[in-house]
Amino acid sequence: MSRRAFILGGTGQIGLAVADALLAAGWTVTLSHRGAHPPPDALVARGARVVEVDRDSPRDLRWGLGPGADALIDTTAYDQEHGRQLQSVQGSVGSFVVISSASVYRDRLGRTLDEAPETGFPELPDPIPETHPTVDPGPATYSTRKIALERYLLDEITAPVTILRPCAVHGVGSRHPREWWFVKRILDHRRAIPLAYRGTSRFHTSAAANIAALTRIAIETPGRRVLNIGDPVAPSVAEIAALIAQHLGYDGRIVEVDEPGYPPSVGRTPWSLPRPFVLDCRAASDLGYVPATTYADAVRPVCDWLVATAGDGDWKERFPVLAAYKRDLFDYGVEERFFRRATTMVRGR
Ligand SMILES: NC(=O)c1ccc[n+]([C@@H]2O[C@H](COP(=O)([O-])OP(=O)(O)OC[C@H]3O[C@@H](n4cnc5c(N)ncnc54)[C@H](OP(=O)(O)O)[C@@H]3O)[C@@H](O)[C@H]2O)c1
Repeated sequence: MSRRAFILGGTGQIGLAVADALLAAGWTVTLSHRGAHPPPDALVARGARVVEVDRDSPRDLRWGLGPGADALIDTTAYDQEHGRQLQSVQGSVGSFVVISSASVYRDRLGRTLDEAPETGFPELPDPIPETHPTVDPGPATYSTRKIALERYLLDEITAPVTILRPCAVHGVGSRHPREWWFVKRILDHRRAIPLAYRGTSRFHTSAAANIAALTRIAIETPGRRVLNIGDPVAPSVAEIAALIAQHLGYDGRIVEVDEPGYPPSVGRTPWSLPRPFVLDCRAASDLGYVPATTYADAVRPVCDWLVATAGDGDWKERFPVLAAYKRDLFDYGVEERFFRRATTMVRGR
């Protein structure tokens, strides 16, 4: 009998990629979600079962799991309570893979990625190993809640648990497609696109397909571990810009801007950071993980999907996580003023 996987949050970008990888490897797959976004017909045609489960409704998960699963993959766990919920079903689960986040790392001054605009950007090793200190667990922030979840899982669950720490996740169907920052500018016929830090920033990208490849290895060799997961090469913002521009045939200018401050006032892409934030992924490789894709290959279908769906209503509703950034991602007025000033300065010399 084929092995059974149950994916909590199965219709998101990570869940769909995991379903694809596991079906291809002969697993029987159940996708669960609240029902907001139906899975692609093609996945259902390949045998994926779909159940409606709201993980925040106490009895749903146990009901959805039915007789149990050899592996439960949770893409939608955010706090200790979610860890407790997984513990409550561990008797009917062979092993767990739970998605955490690379945002949990802190520097020696306690500074983190997400709080950097207020506290200053952290000084972290390049690359960051899993053993690097993290924030303390607690209710304060997304990252402290993720660490509370991680600790609970490792301390309280007796079944094998793999915790994955991805970085800037990308894939078709994302509700947080950072690539939209470039694609919308290109569709809006912007003649020049500025890149802060001269485009040298490296914020490690994590393809959903690579997270899925590591998930498969983790459930096929169950254990207790925390693993970083990033793409084989962490591209710079200039490389990301060039890949997207080339794929979409953009003939405007990509302008590298020298701006040392943080946060920068112009050309601040969703990957623009003053120092690298790159993950050490050797532990995943040691386990036998082989990347399924590279950023260069994975970004093309993401661009095609973004272009094909660009007219489908308000992007802020389709990409709620991107829309929740605390800044206007498309403040073209700032860019125009910057380019006007730059032109005046050149003329004035
Ligand atoms: N995006 C990033 O750059 C990034 C970076 C690091 C870590 N992460 C982590 O990646 C995970 C997000 O994965 P993703 O990008 O695949 O998410 P996603 O595309 O937003 O998908 C979320 C999935 O969870 C389902 N879902 C949401 N709330 C649910 C609930 N209460 N009960 C059951 N299902 C629920 C959604 O379907 P319905 O809406 O139909 O329920 C959907 O299937 C999170 O754990 C996040 O912390 C993301």
